[in-house]
Amino acid sequence: MDKIIIEGGRPLTGEVRVSGAKNAALPIMAASLLTEGWNTFSNIPDLMDIRTTRKLLQSLGVVIEGTSGTVRLNASEISNIEASYDLVKTMRASILVLGPLVARLGIARVSLPGGCAIGARPVNLHIKALQEMGAEVALTDGYVEARAKRLKGAPIYFDIPTVGGTENIMMAATLADGVTLLKNAAREPEIVNLAEVLNGMGARISGAGTDEIRIEGVERLHSVEAEVIPDRIEAGTYMIAAGITGGDIRVMDCNPIHLCALVEKLRDAGMIVEPVDGGVRAAGNGKIRSVDIKTLPHPGFPTDLQAQMMSMMAVAEGLSVITETVFENRFMHVGELMRMGADIHIQGHSAIVKGVSALKGAPVMATDLRASASLILAALAARGTTELSRVYHLDRGYQDIEKKFSALGAGIRRVSGSS
Ligand code: UD1
Repeated sequence: MDKIIIEGGRPLTGEVRVSGAKNAALPIMAASLLTEGWNTFSNIPDLMDIRTTRKLLQSLGVVIEGTSGTVRLNASEISNIEASYDLVKTMRASILVLGPLVARLGIARVSLPGGCAIGARPVNLHIKALQEMGAEVALTDGYVEARAKRLKGAPIYFDIPTVGGTENIMMAATLADGVTLLKNAAREPEIVNLAEVLNGMGARISGAGTDEIRIEGVERLHSVEAEVIPDRIEAGTYMIAAGITGGDIRVMDCNPIHLCALVEKLRDAGMIVEPVDGGVRAAGNGKIRSVDIKTLPHPGFPTDLQAQMMSMMAVAEGLSVITETVFENRFMHVGELMRMGADIHIQGHSAIVKGVSALKGAPVMATDLRASASLILAALAARGTTELSRVYHLDRGYQDIEKKFSALGAGIRRVSGSS
């Protein structure tokens, strides 16, 4: 298995381009199941999760041209309605084929998902919503099987604003009979991107980006050409990298409006974050003030940047309280950061981070996608060498991460070998 070796202590400078958003590309690719004819999507990132989605859609009969950049998908003939455990186990977002398949074909069988080990992450809200739309759902042998001759529009209230649930049901509702009203819907920019793509296909969706989304079902959708938005989590990770290394970088092709909560916190921590043509300049001066963080659904502070922010707080002046409210088990990076000299205590859903003057390089292990990124950030700021193993987590969600950091002046390289 590959490892990433990092020599810390170099301030990052220069320009980095953000790739397309993984979390927008995945549902958008799944949306192709709703149409006949060729859909063309640009700015698809080159990532393991995209390759998994490709395999999954191909296993259902979707014809796909291209692997990243501009990708064309044709779901004219769906030959299989089952998403198998082998494909689904590595990526929770596979559940996103459930809604489109039931809506288009009246039946779907999808293995219950795996993905990052950051909590129980059930799909009960997806299932309940489909049932409310008239689907018969059975859970057997680790699979969700849903059937409905034609889904019926319905008012749906999500107990929790679930991103995947909102996307799944929004897609399903596009072909339902009547109006579906999603209340307490998630408001993430990726949901807005998906709604725009669906409307481009002829769907009638309004309110995406607010907590109430209205979908008027139509008889059929047509193919579309659309672009995936930039990855705000990748962009945020590079912005934090500038702060933790005392560097000065331009993060290009990113939309700062998608990152308001982070930008606010980085400024509070003493960083300069300012818009520049086509992106954002993020600069630190080597001194980081501690700030408190509480993760929340969008537009709150994103849980997907919690681990990276914790690395920065590990070398800040003072005490920071980081509270995770979205997932119940998302502090697995804490143990690894402590191996690098961080002073962190977990109390329930909060991590109390007492800044230290410097972290020290150490062998560390990636435990999930965003935790891996936090360890890279810590290593970039640390004295000495860090060896990060299990980097396959990282490859699920960050395109060319070591090349991009290397171009910013980091001492980082990937080596092949056993872990
Ligand atoms: C998506 C993102 C992930 C991000 C998360 C929260 C993708 C591919 N992944 O994941 O990177 O960390 O949003 O911003 O877009 N829940 C239930 N029942 C359900 C569904 C969710 O209890 O049926 C709970 C989850 O366990 C979690 C919370 O709701 O505690 C939010 O999960 P959700 O928004 O659904 O996350 P994902 O869509 O899986």
